[in-house]
Amino acid sequence: MTDQYCVIGNPIAHSKSPEIHAAYAAATGQAIRYERCLAPLDGFAETVRSLVAQGYRGANVTVPFKLEAASLATRLEERARLAGAVNTLVFQPDGTIVGDNTDGPGLVADIVRNAGVPLAGKRVLLLGAGGAARGVVLPFLQQGPAAIVIANRTRATADALVAQFAGHARPGQVSACGFDEIDAAFDVVVNATSASLSAAMPPVPACAFGEGTLALDMMYGKAPSPFMAFAARHGARTRDGLGMLVEQAAEAFAIWRGVRPATGAVLDAIRNAL
Ligand code: ATR
Repeated sequence: MTDQYCVIGNPIAHSKSPEIHAAYAAATGQAIRYERCLAPLDGFAETVRSLVAQGYRGANVTVPFKLEAASLATRLEERARLAGAVNTLVFQPDGTIVGDNTDGPGLVADIVRNAGVPLAGKRVLLLGAGGAARGVVLPFLQQGPAAIVIANRTRATADALVAQFAGHARPGQVSACGFDEIDAAFDVVVNATSASLSAAMPPVPACAFGEGTLALDMMYGKAPSPFMAFAARHGARTRDGLGMLVEQAAEAFAIWRGVRPATGAVLDAIRNAL
């Protein structure tokens, strides 16, 4: 029987994951099936149990089930535990359900490989301190940046994130600030707030951006987000979250299949189809 996978979410019709994984399977010569799976809002655990019973080998998890997936997994990889969220499940033959999170590694791969910006020694400004931000702190730290500054509207949430990662960082390597305290340009600025969803942008000042800045919005769409447009006006090179999407899928594919697919052609195809 062909190995089966799916992406579980609600809603799920918009998901690009089946196309992405089909392209990876074709490119690597792996025979898999991968489809969309709509779980009822109150039926995530039951949906997973049913997939396991049907012999599925794993699943991706998207909104709004990433936190529930973390509590459902019977074993959590460290990066998923620290993210508090799971986007990749592996259903092992002995019944173990492994929870992992490839969102952060996907973002790092997009910045380092696709955008060609190594993070080692760089100053990174992370905007937002919610679930999306939390998932990228450890993968960023593993690249050895000079500093990660977390700016959030609600300062206490950023402080809590700094405290959570203190044990994984050099003293002072991760710090928090309010948007009004940002007073210098950063090498990399990542918008991990959900502001773009409502066509808004976080109140980041123009001085955060310069000629050498890479400004990346985790969201993507046909047109640049207000954050990307603002950053570009102030000299930054910009990037949306489509590369992150394609790379987190490649990381998940690698976990399941043991081979990491090339992503360039898939990113181009998905971009052209937006
Ligand atoms: P996600 O899982 O997408 O990260 P979340 O956990 O609800 O969603 O977090 C949303 C993040 O976006 C938070 O950091 C939030 O800031 P607060 O903690 O102050 O609420 C941030 N956010 C959302 N809209 C924003 C806006 N218009 N300006 C600035 N920050 C915003």
